[in-house]
Amino acid sequence: MRGPASPAWTGRARDRYICPVDPGELLDLLKRRTGFTEAHAALLRELGEVMVPIAHEVALAFYDYLGRDPELGAILHAEPGRVERLYRTFARWYGELFSGVYDRAYAERRRRIGLVHARLGIGPRAMIPAMGIVQELSLEHMRMALRGHEVYSAVEAFEKLVAMEVALIEESYLEALSLGLSLGHRDLTQALKEGASALLSRA
Ligand code: HEM
Repeated sequence: MRGPASPAWTGRARDRYICPVDPGELLDLLKRRTGFTEAHAALLRELGEVMVPIAHEVALAFYDYLGRDPELGAILHAEPGRVERLYRTFARWYGELFSGVYDRAYAERRRRIGLVHARLGIGPRAMIPAMGIVQELSLEHMRMALRGHEVYSAVEAFEKLVAMEVALIEESYLEALSLGLSLGHRDLTQALKEGASALLSRA
């Protein structure tokens, strides 16, 4: 089997293998792999009627959860006004989960969210549990707000979307990390931050 050092893995082909960076293509791949269809998109848009009104409440619970973690809490409070700004940006992100439109522009916004966190050194060990909290809060509300037979299909559509959200963010981390390493940073956190910073400044 060919290893990464083999000539066939060098240059553009290898970069593309590590991170298929075109967000639109990546989203199409993720839709196929999760089995996400237009019917799921339409269902999520309908669900918006009961989910979007709780966006602010989810944001409050979310940042309360993050604030209880000393390391993450310190990041949140590192700049005056940051948490207040985050309440708004998070609520907008949450509302978009139920927009029903999951296209290239949506994938590009998710890539940017990943890069913003990567630039701050907020890696998968913080993001993935945080996404778990979003799921927990959302599923609890679906269970309360929907009729029994509606819950299963709502959860199915929501979980597929969350899987795509996580993948889009994680792929942007890989993109940032591989750029940071190629720029010569040997420390992984530094490579992640610098790679993300370079990608955001190109955007
Ligand atoms: C489900 C996981 C998360 C979601 C959906 C989320 C959502 C967002 C969004 C939408 C933004 C604005 C991005 C932009 O400027 O374009 C943002 C920024 C930010 N997030 Fe998160 N976030 C998550 C996890 C976390 C975690 C775990 C932390 C840890 C402390 C965190 C801290 C921050 C900080 C510090 C910013 C920059 C705020 C600023 O100064 O403007 N986020 N987040």
